[in-house]
Order: sequence, then C-alpha cells, then structure tokens
Amino acid sequence: MALLDRARWYDLARTTEWTPRYVEPDELFPPEMSGGEGIPDEAWSTYDEPYKISYREYVDVQRQKDAGAYSVKATLERADLYHKADPGWISILKEHYAAVAVVEYGASFQEARFARWSKAPGMRNMAVFGMLDEIRHAQMQLFFPHEYVNKDRQFDWSHEAMFTDNWVTLGARHFFDDMLMTRDAISTAICANFSFETGFTNLQFIGLSGDAAKAGDFTFSKLIQSIQSDEARHAQLGTPLLQLLIESGQKERAQKLIDISFWRSYRLFTVLSGIPMDYYVPLDVREASFKEFMEEWIVTQFVRSLEDLGLAKPWYWDLFLRDVSEHHHGQQLGTYSWRPTLWWNPAAGVTPEERDWLEEKYPGWNDTFGKVWDVLIDNFAHGRTDRTVPGTLPVICNVSQLPIVGTPSQTLRDISIVHEGRRYHFASEVDRWIFEDDPERYRHHRNLVDRFLGGEIQPADLGGVLQYMGLGVVSDGGDDAHGYAWVDRYRPALATTG
Ligand SMILES: [Fe+2]
Ligand SMILES: [Fe+2]
Repeated sequence: MALLDRARWYDLARTTEWTPRYVEPDELFPPEMSGGEGIPDEAWSTYDEPYKISYREYVDVQRQKDAGAYSVKATLERADLYHKADPGWISILKEHYAAVAVVEYGASFQEARFARWSKAPGMRNMAVFGMLDEIRHAQMQLFFPHEYVNKDRQFDWSHEAMFTDNWVTLGARHFFDDMLMTRDAISTAICANFSFETGFTNLQFIGLSGDAAKAGDFTFSKLIQSIQSDEARHAQLGTPLLQLLIESGQKERAQKLIDISFWRSYRLFTVLSGIPMDYYVPLDVREASFKEFMEEWIVTQFVRSLEDLGLAKPWYWDLFLRDVSEHHHGQQLGTYSWRPTLWWNPAAGVTPEERDWLEEKYPGWNDTFGKVWDVLIDNFAHGRTDRTVPGTLPVICNVSQLPIVGTPSQTLRDISIVHEGRRYHFASEVDRWIFEDDPERYRHHRNLVDRFLGGEIQPADLGGVLQYMGLGVVSDGGDDAHGYAWVDRYRPALATTG
C-alpha cells in the first residue's frame, strides 16, 4: 500500500487540541505546571515546531543511530582502550558518565512534563520524541561505561554519582533540579532546552567528540555524536516559546530566564568541560582550548540565536567574557587539591609544555594560577605531599554550590548577604543577583559546608566527609591521574633549592 507523503497528513495528525467540557482550562493545565500566563489561548496552536517527524520515521532513524554507536563499541572493545589511553582521558570518561548518564534519565521527565503540561499541541507532540531521546541517552551512557567497571571501580560512579551527596553531585543536582525539574513547562523549555541544550551541550558533546577521536576513543566520539544529534533536534523546543512570550509583551521575562539559566549552565560547565579540555585531554590531541570552544559555540553561535529573536546578551556579558579566561583555572586548582573528594583521578596538566600551552591560550596564566602551581610543585618535589591537600573545606557558593574561586591576587572576594538571619555567600555578582531575584527558590538548600557545620557529617573530619560523600565504599576518592610522574620533570631544577 502506498504511503501518503508526511506533509499531507502531519498537520492534521498532530492537531490534538480540544476544548475541555468537564474541567476548567486551569484544572487541565494548572498555571504552576504549564506557565504561559498572559499568552492568549488561541496563540498556543500557532506554536510551530521547528522539527517535524512521524513516529515511524523517528524509530527508524533512532534504530540506525543506536546500531551505529553500539557496533563501534562492540568492534573496538578488544582494542583495550582502558589500558592504552592516557590516564587523563580515562578521567574524562569517569567524570562525564557520572555527571551525565542519570541526569539524562532526569531529562526524560523534563520532556515528559512538556508532553503533559505544555499548552502548545505541537510542543507536546515533539516532547514525546524528546522524552524517548533522553531515555536512550541514559541507557547508552550507563551501558557504555559498564565494560570498564570490572577494570576500575571508579566507573561505578556512572550510575552511583547522582544518588550520593558528593560535592560535585550536589552542585550538578542543584543545577539540574533548578533548570530541568522545578519550573513550569515554559520556563523549563527556555532554561533547559534553549539555554542549556542549545548553548552548552554542544560544548561538551561536540567539543569532546573531536578530542575523543584524536585520543583514539572512537567509541566515545561516536556515542556523544549520536546523542548530540538528538539534542540538536529537541533543543529547538524552546525557541517558538520565546517567540510567543515576546509577541505577548513578555520580553523582559524571557530575557531574565535566559540570563539566569545561561550563567548557571556556564558555571557548571567550567567544571564539566573547562577543566577536562584544558588540563585532562592529552596535550598532543587537544583540539582547542575551553575559551576557544566558548568563543565559537557560545559567544558567536548562541548570541546569534539570541539576536535573531530580538533578545539581548545577558546583562553581565563583560564579566562573563573575562570569567571565561579565569574561573575554570581556579576550579582546576580546587578540584585537584581536594582530589580525595572526587570520584575520578584528576590530571594536573602542568608539565612545562602544558604550561607553555596554557600561557599561550591564556596570557598571564603563569603569573597568576601558575604561581599557585609552583607552590604545589615545590611541595610535591620535596616530598611534602600532605601540604598539597587542604585541611579545611572551601567556602561554597549558595547558588552554583561550587567552591568560590578567583584569580590569585585579582578577583577573589567574598560576596555575601544576610537574608532572614542567615548569611549566604556567592561566587559572583551574578550568583547573588540570581539568589536575590527569587530567594525562596534557593534559600533553603544546605550546601556541604552547612551540613558539616550543622553536625550532619560525622565524624566531623576528612574521613567523615569522604564517607558522607560516598567515597571509600565501592571505590576510593581521586588521586593524581598520572601517579605524579609529571613532577619528575621539575625535580632537577628544584633539587638545588631548599
Ligand atoms: Fe540528552
Ligand atoms: Fe536533551
């Protein structure tokens, strides 16, 4: 039987709008779940999904994508990447899978909430496919690291991480709960689909896929390309909503949601993408610096999509442009120093050649961050390893939930406010602005230091903190990815000093 061309039936088939007779519209679509106050009822059916596909076509394409990625994995399993790859690369895999796999499963709920609560029929339809996408992403990113679990128990964290109270998890979960899980359908689509997916998943998935291929990890490269091809599709869910908001006179609201979600996404990605790209990827296969990726994918492409809609760059743009050259270097120093609290083994990434590369990409690095590394290197080279791990907990930002860092002797300062009798600390003016805009959303969260000082973590010492964070149960916390072999490069020069 001949099939009708999709264009001839699609519009009719996806017109699933009706007028409820047994309940009020607000009961069917409660405003706190649906959002979109002030947008006239008749506007929703004008939502024109930028991507049209039938279920039959969807299943066929996805099956082919799965077959491609799984067959590459099966073919290369015997290549023994785990033992052949640079340990820095293995650390990237551990960090990535743990931070992403279960979150993808969470993202299927994000899409499922659109499928139920969005008032736009075209969006509901598209979100069903988005939901299936995210289930696929979760399944793949749990299955792919599983081959490594019997070689290295830190890979257990691919599944385990999001169920622990590790500090990195607390930051990631706080972000994803805020962006994906706890806002109405309209706001979620702007925060998660437009800002986070259009802007930032590109960075991780396209940026790292090039590095992966160069590092010889074709399995990972193929996997994340496969995922990104779905993201590029369902990321578009948010754009027609922005148009609806702007047309109904709510440009300011749209802009604010973007300003909040852009900053929150960016700061999380300094740890997720920034550190690996500039410190863990082996130097000879580095495709570009984090800053270069940010300039291509964010500064150029994301800003273009904002301008196409008639929206502006976030208000803190100048601060952001400076931050791109700084913040992740501070987070690298922090995560490396607190390495026993990580589920992966961080690479230092500061051999003389790597430092030359950092100085070239970030002029002034040696005079700022490099000086702190000089102290660490001196301690390592003289056997004072105990002095390279801090004995206290860092001050943590009450929005990003990440340690507050800055450029040594330049930008590090405490930004804090007292709200209803409690003092809150922030890593930047932007984090404080986000908090003050909606204190009720953020003020109840207790960060790791709050929990420690509140007596929730016992015994109140490093051992107790590690145990609280889930380390030492199935796998131990992190240690230098290269077993400190890189320190040898400095020993001859330091041998004459005291
Ligand atoms: Fe996804
Ligand atoms: Fe997604």
